Amino acid sequence: MELTQVIEQRRSIRKFREDPITDAMIEELLTAARLAPSGSNIQPARFVVVKTPTMKEKLGTCTPYKFITRAPVIFVCCADRASLATRDRRVGELLEIGAFTDVEMDAIDLEAYTAAQMDAFAAREYLSMNAAIAIEQMVLRAVDLGLGSCWIGRFDKEKAREILELDDDTQIVVLLPVGYPAQSPPQRPRLPLERLVLKTV
Ligand SMILES: Cc1cc2nc3c(=O)[nH]c(=O)nc-3n(C[C@H](O)[C@H](O)[C@H](O)COP(=O)(O)O)c2cc1C
Repeated sequence: MELTQVIEQRRSIRKFREDPITDAMIEELLTAARLAPSGSNIQPARFVVVKTPTMKEKLGTCTPYKFITRAPVIFVCCADRASLATRDRRVGELLEIGAFTDVEMDAIDLEAYTAAQMDAFAAREYLSMNAAIAIEQMVLRAVDLGLGSCWIGRFDKEKAREILELDDDTQIVVLLPVGYPAQSPPQRPRLPLERLVLKTV
């Protein structure tokens, strides 16, 4: 499918057919996430792939959006806090493969990368932003494969962490139920384009 078509046709899907999705499709979606860009190439996105009815039911108790349990797969989309400490190594890799060779820029100071610390709020925001890019790549690839999905931000993250037995380094970002759509909603309301542009200078 053309990218513009994928972007235009995507909707948040809240009703799914019962048909399962294949492991090959799951791998395609994860591959789309894997190829996402990330700051300093730290690649913090991590996923728990939830397929069993028992685990889906348990996750359903974490959110008012019970429809997620009807999806054949729920991706619990996370970010690895430990990835922040790999910035110097990742930037080193980029330097090695020549990503910045002959690029007009100030010299990169790898020691500064190692020394730089973010406060907890900034780190959370940064990890969420990076994970979000990977997640939306999955969302768009899902459309391309004839699938639908819905970002779920409203859920009890601590409860989900306990249910899934995730460690403290894992920041849960959103739930993403994915399956064949059992609805084809019209485009949801959007602001006019003029509202998006603050100014052109
Ligand atoms: C970060 C984020 C969190 C969201 N959380 C929820 C949610 O908790 N429950 C839900 O039903 N939809 C959720 N949505 C879907 C939005 O409601 C939806 O994207 C919006 O209404 C526009 O509709 P559309 O995606 O069909 O264009 C979320 C979307 C995003 C991007």
